[in-house]
Amino acid sequence: MAIRLGDKAPNFSAESTDGHIDFYDWKGDSWVLLFSHPKDFTPVCTTELGAVAGLKPEFDKRGVKIIGISVDPLDSHQGWAQDIEDVTGNALSFPLLADPDHKIAEAFDMIHPNELATLTVRTVFVIAPDNTVKLTLTYPASTGRNWQEILRAIDSIQLTANHSVSTPSDWKPGEHVIAAPTFSDEEAEAKFGPLDKKKDYLRFVSQPG
Ligand code: BEZ
Repeated sequence: MAIRLGDKAPNFSAESTDGHIDFYDWKGDSWVLLFSHPKDFTPVCTTELGAVAGLKPEFDKRGVKIIGISVDPLDSHQGWAQDIEDVTGNALSFPLLADPDHKIAEAFDMIHPNELATLTVRTVFVIAPDNTVKLTLTYPASTGRNWQEILRAIDSIQLTANHSVSTPSDWKPGEHVIAAPTFSDEEAEAKFGPLDKKKDYLRFVSQPG
């Protein structure tokens, strides 16, 4: 069963490169980036894991814990960690879950058998402090992900969780955002400052907060 936006992320427990993990206990009330890769000791995956490890300070700044997963066993993850560091210069800085019995992969619908028979595809889940799923992405094995885009999406998700605004196409932090349509012009102006009104339903304002 696919996990959809707004669903509760299921709990699980598994071995990881940082020891045994009960997901809800480990997560606490943090944001989480949970992502799968197809297979250890493969080229695109090596570049991706190193890239995420290098961006850990950016995820930390946003209060986001990182956790990776594939269907490989723990000893494979442990052996591969050195390759990731050799190739990218970044040591693995977050737990990598071992899921050889596909328990987690099935709970999160990470195996798409018509694409890759028994391996996890490249999924991403951003999970909120209350355990609801706020973003899902699925990429094929041949396409490495753009983690800057995922950080950008997290910035939008966290901003819009706290303020009655949405973010336009290609928005970046600091750029104008869109006032919620529920506010009158007067209410929006009182809340956010001057409006740049393109249409009745599209009113840009400065980023709050
Ligand atoms: C890769 O990381 O390059 C890869 C992994 C699994 C299947 C195909 C490519």
